[in-house]
Amino acid sequence: MNDLLLQQYRSFLKDTIRKTVDFSKTDQNLGVAPPPIEKPFSNDAVRIDLLKEDSWKNISAISLSEAIKNRKSRRTFLDRSLKLDELSFLLWATQGIRHQIDQGHAYRTVPSAGCRHALETYLYILKVEGLDSGVYRYLPLEHQLLFEFSEERMSEKLVKAVLRQPYPGKAAVTFIWTALPYRMEWRYGLAAHKVIAIEAGHVCQNLYLACEAISCGTCAIAAYDQETIDKLLRMNGLDEFVIYIATVGKVKM
Ligand SMILES: Cc1cc2nc3c(=O)[nH]c(=O)nc-3n(C[C@H](O)[C@H](O)[C@H](O)COP(=O)(O)O)c2cc1C
Repeated sequence: MNDLLLQQYRSFLKDTIRKTVDFSKTDQNLGVAPPPIEKPFSNDAVRIDLLKEDSWKNISAISLSEAIKNRKSRRTFLDRSLKLDELSFLLWATQGIRHQIDQGHAYRTVPSAGCRHALETYLYILKVEGLDSGVYRYLPLEHQLLFEFSEERMSEKLVKAVLRQPYPGKAAVTFIWTALPYRMEWRYGLAAHKVIAIEAGHVCQNLYLACEAISCGTCAIAAYDQETIDKLLRMNGLDEFVIYIATVGKVKM
């Protein structure tokens, strides 16, 4: 391997870039208003209320150490649907709002550098009780699902987009996280990108652990065709693009 090239790519993992950024010139320090906490949506969009913490019935009280001990990547799922309270729980665990500070800042159930939270959550739903199959987006502030679109032969197209890994075609729900880099760049400029990737890891780890509490399994997916999946999700791939994927389904524990 070309050593120079390796060093060049390894620098992404380092924080050396911070020394090169003039933070007085970031949009935050220039007084530009922060980008919205979640992507805006139109008032006539179809939205589905999710269940809140006090009405979850299917969440077992497994210990944290049990969840951590049992966690593993699970790629084979039972032919069973998730209940809406289970999906609500998984969405809360991965991106739920803990406390909103103002229009531009909110604490969530996962950490994020500078509390910028640069991700959005899309779901390809195949089997959730009471929901039609299709692509949805989680609205953390409202704790609702927004119906995005349905697409002919979506399972097949998704499998193709993840380089023919078969699980997303069979999983009850596939989580597809996108990055909106400007949310982080607004504060950190060119030092934004490594921390976005780290943030995605935190989100997916919460999904792994939360799945353990509802007899579900998940498997992280980072191998996919970028352009194909961005197109499939109907996004431009510039201001917003897919960064991480995870399939979820019921499993025999
Ligand atoms: C960043 C990341 C990317 C991954 N991408 C894939 C993937 O594309 N396909 C897949 O089947 N598993 C993927 N995995 C799951 C790993 O293969 C799995 O975590 C590893 O084999 C260890 O197994 P365990 O999770 O059961 O401990 C990924 C895991 C991580 C953390």
